[in-house]
Amino acid sequence: MMNNPSCWVLHFFCCFSCCLLFPALVLSHHIHGNPASDIVDIINKNRTDQKLPHLNDSPGLGCMALQYVELCKGNCSDNNAVNCKPPEDDFTEVFAPNCGVELPTFGTITGHIVGCQREYLEPSQAFSQVLIKDKNSVSVLKNKTHTEVGVGLVGLHKGPFFWCVLFSSGQTNSTFVLENRGAGIQQKKGCYSGSSTPCSGIGHTRTVALNIFFISFVSVLLLTLL
Ligand SMILES: *[C@@H]1O[C@H](CO)[C@@H](O)[C@H](O)[C@H]1NC(C)=O
Ligand SMILES: *[C@@H]1O[C@H](CO)[C@@H](O)[C@H](O)[C@H]1NC(C)=O
Ligand SMILES: *[C@@H]1O[C@H](CO)[C@@H](O)[C@H](O)[C@H]1NC(C)=O
Ligand SMILES: *[C@@H]1O[C@H](CO)[C@@H](O)[C@H](O)[C@H]1NC(C)=O
Repeated sequence: MMNNPSCWVLHFFCCFSCCLLFPALVLSHHIHGNPASDIVDIINKNRTDQKLPHLNDSPGLGCMALQYVELCKGNCSDNNAVNCKPPEDDFTEVFAPNCGVELPTFGTITGHIVGCQREYLEPSQAFSQVLIKDKNSVSVLKNKTHTEVGVGLVGLHKGPFFWCVLFSSGQTNSTFVLENRGAGIQQKKGCYSGSSTPCSGIGHTRTVALNIFFISFVSVLLLTLL
């Protein structure tokens, strides 16, 4: 069959178009930048559009938001509700130390919103479908006491995914200060706003696996043709 030139050309053409198209499809699902920081931008756009003050993006709050969802990771119900109530003391006794938040700079948490979803959602969808989806969360979002915000997100390999927003009334740069500007944080999973470390463990593994599979597939196909 391979001796037939038109068949060979057809194979080559199919293979070549796959080469170009398939990675593009896979990459479009890859998460770019930091979706937690994107959510902070969306929160600020929503607030400033309603003439509410802009909130400072606090990496210290963001890191604690990630700690919060890290703890709640197993607790997403079938109807996408987070059944998780970490003790209030966890903020100062677990989350802050894990993040390297200098305790004397620990400010007042003025609100928090937590949500989960079976599959990963883009930042704007996560904002409207997971985080700000009822009267209660709208009122937390619009509260005039907040001055700072931080967002954390994490997901198990195949979901569910968890998002957390923490608000505080601290003064810019003097609350939730991270030791060494956060350089010592061991971030294994997920991501948080204000961090320069990209999101890990969300979408990435699958992309790499698929790409390896695809490259092997193409190589075998090409070898067969030659
Ligand atoms: C998560 O759910 C389990 C089982 O319902 C419960 O025992 C546990 O306390 C929950 N975790 C938190 C941090 O609330
Ligand atoms: C705003 O948040 C503060 C601190 O959590 C709370 O005491 C106050 O009741 C909230 N205000 C409104 C209008 O919800
Ligand atoms: C802010 O977000 C809420 C919740 O998604 C939405 O209902 C509202 O229209 C938004 N407001 C603006 C000004 O974008
Ligand atoms: C906060 O700290 C950064 C970096 O040190 C500085 O550029 C910025 O002006 C400070 N902001 C305020 C409001 O003090």
